[in-house]
Amino acid sequence: MNRKEIINRINSVWGVETYLEIGVQTEKNFLKVSAPKKLAVDPAFKIKLKRKIWYFLSYIKSRFFEMTSDDFFKNQASNIFKEKPLDVAFIDGLHTYDQSFRDFENCFKYLSQNGVVMFHDCNPDSVEAAAPAFSPQDMKEKFPKKETYEWNGDVWKSIVRLRSLHPELEVFTLDCDYGIGVVRRGKPHDMLSYSLEEIDKLTYADLKANRKRFLNLKEASYLNEFVETF
Ligand SMILES: C[S@@+](CC[C@H](N)C(=O)[O-])C[C@H]1O[C@@H](n2cnc3c(N)ncnc32)[C@H](O)[C@@H]1O
Repeated sequence: MNRKEIINRINSVWGVETYLEIGVQTEKNFLKVSAPKKLAVDPAFKIKLKRKIWYFLSYIKSRFFEMTSDDFFKNQASNIFKEKPLDVAFIDGLHTYDQSFRDFENCFKYLSQNGVVMFHDCNPDSVEAAAPAFSPQDMKEKFPKKETYEWNGDVWKSIVRLRSLHPELEVFTLDCDYGIGVVRRGKPHDMLSYSLEEIDKLTYADLKANRKRFLNLKEASYLNEFVETF
């Protein structure tokens, strides 16, 4: 199961109105997601004209904000979510702990009561993929000998933080497509007990040794159980 299928399943079962994707890049995911109102935020879109034409209906029904997520939340969000709150958000912009957590906090301010926030890239499978780099180029410079450059960053720490310090949230990670973190208001399955200082010091070795517990990692099929609770 991939991110598009997960998002579309949640969107259709729940009947969401407003979908926000932070970090869009190409048409790969955003234009294939179904929702009545779609918002795209990215400082550097790369959607080709022929793909815009191919996904014409989805494209014209969407709004594109060519800016960073911080600028979107600073200058646009309050106006956009004034009448209708945000229902589903997919955070896939700058893959750092700091930025992904800030994106979460900003989304949460506008999230509807039953809203869901998802994070991409929560389950890196190597120390290189988990490097807190600022771009794929930065990754290449940090690991010049590596052959492939999967870049998930340290987004996983946002999941550890939510599971440690937010008893009002249900948080789990689907074990597919580099790890899809899923968060909504509700009772946690269980909690971790790390402080902010301890989370800062966690390393990829800690994640590797505690993957299932840190992320509350679930088989992708757990999505079926999750959507039944809407
Ligand atoms: C991995 S790609 C997104 C992929 C897309 N969501 C998908 O599923 O195919 C990451 C994107 O995040 C964008 N990005 C980087 N920094 C960002 C920021 N501060 N705010 C929003 N987007 C950002 C990059 O320009 C890039 O296009």
